[in-house]
Amino acid sequence: MSYPYQIKTAEEYKEAYKKSVENPDAFWNDIAETFQWHKKWDRTLEWNFIEPDIKWFVNGKLNITENCIDRHLKELGEKPAIIWEPNNPEERVRIVTYNRLHKRVCQFAQVLKNNGVKKGDRVCIYMGMVPELAYAVLGCARIGAIHSVIFGGFSAQSIADRLLDAQAEYIVTCDGAYRGEKVIPLKDVIDDALIGNKTVKRVIVYTRTRTPVSMIKGRDVWWEDEMAHAEDQVEKGGAVSFPAVEMDAEDTLFILYTSGSTGKPKGVVHTCGGYMVYTNYSFVNTFQYQPGQVFFCTADIGWITGHSYIVYGPLSAGATSVMFEGVPTWPNAGRLWEIVDKYKVDILYTAPTAIRSLMGFGLEPLQGKDLSSLKVLGSVGEPINEEAWHWFDEHIGKGKCPIVDTWWQTETGGILISNLAGVTPGIPSFATLPLPGVQPVLIDENGKEVEGNPAAGNLCIKAPWPSILRTTYGDHERCRQTYFSAYPGLYFTGDGALRDEKGNYRITGRVDDVLNVSGHRIGTAEVENAINMHSGVVESAVVGYPHAIKGQGIYAYVVFNGDKHNDTGDRQNILQTVSRIIGPIAKPDKIQFVKGLPKTRSGKIMRRILRKIAEGETQNFGDISTLLDPGVVEEIAEGKV
Ligand code: WT7
Repeated sequence: MSYPYQIKTAEEYKEAYKKSVENPDAFWNDIAETFQWHKKWDRTLEWNFIEPDIKWFVNGKLNITENCIDRHLKELGEKPAIIWEPNNPEERVRIVTYNRLHKRVCQFAQVLKNNGVKKGDRVCIYMGMVPELAYAVLGCARIGAIHSVIFGGFSAQSIADRLLDAQAEYIVTCDGAYRGEKVIPLKDVIDDALIGNKTVKRVIVYTRTRTPVSMIKGRDVWWEDEMAHAEDQVEKGGAVSFPAVEMDAEDTLFILYTSGSTGKPKGVVHTCGGYMVYTNYSFVNTFQYQPGQVFFCTADIGWITGHSYIVYGPLSAGATSVMFEGVPTWPNAGRLWEIVDKYKVDILYTAPTAIRSLMGFGLEPLQGKDLSSLKVLGSVGEPINEEAWHWFDEHIGKGKCPIVDTWWQTETGGILISNLAGVTPGIPSFATLPLPGVQPVLIDENGKEVEGNPAAGNLCIKAPWPSILRTTYGDHERCRQTYFSAYPGLYFTGDGALRDEKGNYRITGRVDDVLNVSGHRIGTAEVENAINMHSGVVESAVVGYPHAIKGQGIYAYVVFNGDKHNDTGDRQNILQTVSRIIGPIAKPDKIQFVKGLPKTRSGKIMRRILRKIAEGETQNFGDISTLLDPGVVEEIAEGKV
């Protein structure tokens, strides 16, 4: 595998960037032509950001799995595609070669077909981090079904909402999942999610933990039985092979749900052609991946980071991708370093929250771990604070590994702003420069572009890159409203940013009511809805506050019915309710019971004040004269938890 479009010097970066802006069609044509297409596209790009309507590689035909697997078989067939490290370090590791991956993905595509799955059908995948999760994702892509992966930490209610929104007819799950010392009963959760569901016809269950499950006749089948049957079928004609279904470049590849500032998660839609090209391009360039290197992204495939940089980006580049089932702190805080040592990892891509939590264990867990294979480090999910950056640089990279601070979003599909490892300079706490094809702009409070440097404003993007979201599933208007209406003609990211004298971007965080908790996106409205479902709660308001490890913590102000609440018991019950409605990741870190919320005369909650109190401010609340009852502010400030 070679990457003719890999940028090697700062000079080449400048040239590539210039070309990508001046002649995007020619720029992306050259890159896209290195992939395997059934039919070449007629036009490279058609777009407007008003409706929005975005099409890349118009009328091009392809299947992404042929690009992620088949095209590598001749050269890399016996090379590892996935190295799987189990939760329990005593358990046998699994090395999945490209040949093996091909076989399993074909086999699973056959299983899907046997169970009635057709192109365009929605398949919900709710599994732990086992290789079968990758087979399931790629099996869907091979047959043209739309996968919707749901992170294993989401509750039955969250799954039910997503199943309904996607009108999913199929589910792939596990009996259970290991996470550190915990076993999560995934199939049980699915059973709860399916109470009252009218669309799901089939549930395929992979055995991982031997957690007892109830299998419903006519609906639930075992992965193992189905795979064995498929193997018999496909093997009759010789090797296991399943012809990849031809997809249009703009056919949907997957849906991934993410939170926003309203109460209901939205299904971000990515399509086949542009997503393939951009995840590959950004992978090869940001991390400066070289053939044969071992790439380790510590994310879960339930999030976009795992989709783009465990599965599609690395595999389309013929890379070796490490997939880790467990957690960084179990059985001890040296686990990631042990994995780096064991597999001689070249590139490690992780999150600031993981770095901060591991920093807390000191240097002891690093003892005896050989990290000399590392060449590049990466960070994603939230701004990386300088302390964490320096610790990562000094103790993990030993001062010799470039750190790429990669800014992007579920909606962007791939990395948009980042230094390129060893090619363009990194600056602590700056994501730095846009990748070729990406045109960021900063917009001031009057909706005007802020030109010149330095500058500050809301971060928008001027023109499409190949992996921009195309719509939100089943509700295009919501997509328009959320991303394309605040500043007509621009894609609005929801983030604020600064730009220094040299044009480097520093992301300052969300400017909407979305929190970033341990790199997970959580909408405050969603948490409020969940809290409000608890009986006895009249209303609530949720804000973020600085948290040493999570980046942001969740602070909930809750108005209880009457004075009858018992603090500890009710706190526990509220946490339980949020866990049930969304999942444990959305549990508030702090709950303060209040008599009332600071509201304007028109009934709007003044979150600015609540944020200040949660941050520890005791008096300077700014102008509170428009409040219906200014007295409530002091009372809340005094009761801070
Ligand atoms: C939000 C997107 C993209 C994968 C993980 C999160 C924040 C992400 C950075 C970074 C500063 C970052 C932004 C963004 N964010 N990476 N390197 N520096 N902030 O995906 O859940 O879609 O969240 O994460 O606020 O909008 P997501």
